[in-house]
Order: sequence, then structure tokens, then C-alpha cells
Amino acid sequence: MRVMSERQPIPRHVAIIMDGNGRWAKLRGKERYEGHIQGVAAVREAVRAAVRNGVEYLTLYAFSTENWGRPAEEVEALMSLFCTSVINETPSLVEQGVRVKLIGHRSHFSEKVQRYLTEIEERTADGGRLTLILAIDYSSRDEITDAVRKIAAEVADGRIGAAEITERTIGQALYTADYPDPDFIIRTSGECRLSNFLLWQASYAEFYFPQVLWPDFTEEDFDKAMEVYASRERRYGLI
Ligand code: FPP
Repeated sequence: MRVMSERQPIPRHVAIIMDGNGRWAKLRGKERYEGHIQGVAAVREAVRAAVRNGVEYLTLYAFSTENWGRPAEEVEALMSLFCTSVINETPSLVEQGVRVKLIGHRSHFSEKVQRYLTEIEERTADGGRLTLILAIDYSSRDEITDAVRKIAAEVADGRIGAAEITERTIGQALYTADYPDPDFIIRTSGECRLSNFLLWQASYAEFYFPQVLWPDFTEEDFDKAMEVYASRERRYGLI
């Protein structure tokens, strides 16, 4: 059971659903991929602000498993954006002490994209200030299903008894086993849904839904979000 701890004014782990790239582009008469390109600039802002605020973990929902169903040219544009961002952003991430980690089914990506993604993890492995977790080809229900399969196999092998399964067993079988649960989940663009993101891990998180479209998200918006978090009172089911 989670016990109420001393209130921390800064969330240790912030997770963001970066929403509104398509609407941002449409409002300007641009193609959707241009919204994603501008979205990378907003990622840069969020990372800088997270480091400056002393946030230890920042998870960004960059590509959901459902996103494979988008038009082929948009998926292509996003893949190429992931690759170019890896090349362009790595030096700055290293300089800021950012370690990049991935969660999701990366095996669905082409070998080239997988190579780029692995490279960013390797080149930033020593970053000690912020762990930037990119949820790419991520689905929380898939993650939970994978965890159940893993635990079921351990029960079948006799490595663990069914009655011994605890919340911890499940947490340790998720892609996020090495990270604390998110304290604060932000979804931009005014939509108020979790969309298959960190369903298990979000149990005690605070939520914030600013109207700003993701490409317009700035360091100041991140700072404002930190103020919103600091003003919330978390009770973890207590009184
Ligand atoms: C949601 O907006 C955004 C995405 C599906 C892609 C997010 C990707 C990036 C910001 C690009 C780069 C990321 C990294 C980590 C390099 P939407 O297209 O659903 O917007 P809409 O709801 O207005 O259509």
C-alpha cells in the first residue's frame, strides 16, 4: 500500500500526452507533418524546462500503437522525424545530462529506425540529470497484457505461486519497471482522455489539461504546469 509522504512541490516524474499537432497545422493551412515538426521544438522546450525545474523523469507519448492506423505518409513523416531528431538533438541532450530511454514495441519499426533509437539510448546512457522516456509504439493495454503473459509463464514454471502475485510483481513486469510512477500527467490541446497511456502507473497521478496545442507549448507553459502541480493536494486515498 502506498503511504502518504511529505508533499513534494516538484513532481519527480512528469508524463505528457503531446496532443494538437494536427490541429495546429490545420489552423495555419499547413500539412499535418508540419505540426509534428513544430512539435519537436516543443519537446526541446519541455526537456529544458524539466531539467531546470529538477524533474527527474519525463515521459513523452510520441507514438501510440493506434497511430499505425494514420495515413502512410503521416506515419512515414513521423518515422523520419524520429530519426532526424535523434541525430540533431543528441549533442544537446548529452550536454544537458539527459538520458533517453524507450518504452513500447520497438520491434515493429524498420531496422533503420530501430538502429537510430538504440543509438540515442547508447549515446545518452551517462545522462544523470533527467531520464527522458519516449513512449513509442506504446499501448498501455499491450504492456499490461505482456506483463500478464510474463507472470503467467513464471507461475506455469513454478517460479512464483499465484497467491504470491502482488502489485509489485505486476509493476516489475511492466515496461516501466525501472521508473517511479508518474506524479503529474499533462495532456495538451484541451482533450481530457488518457488514450491507452500508463493506465496502471497513473493510479495516483494528478492530471492537468491545458488548452495550448502541443507545438505552441513553451518553457513558460511547463513552469505554469509546475505551479498547478504545487497547488494540488495529494491524499492517496487518505483523508
Ligand atoms: C499528437 O497530435 C501527436 C503525435 C501523434 C505525435 C507526437 C510527435 C512529436 C511531437 C514529434 C517528435 C517527438 C519526438 C520525441 C522526437 P495529433 O497529430 O494527434 O494532433 P490532432 O489531435 O490535433 O490531430
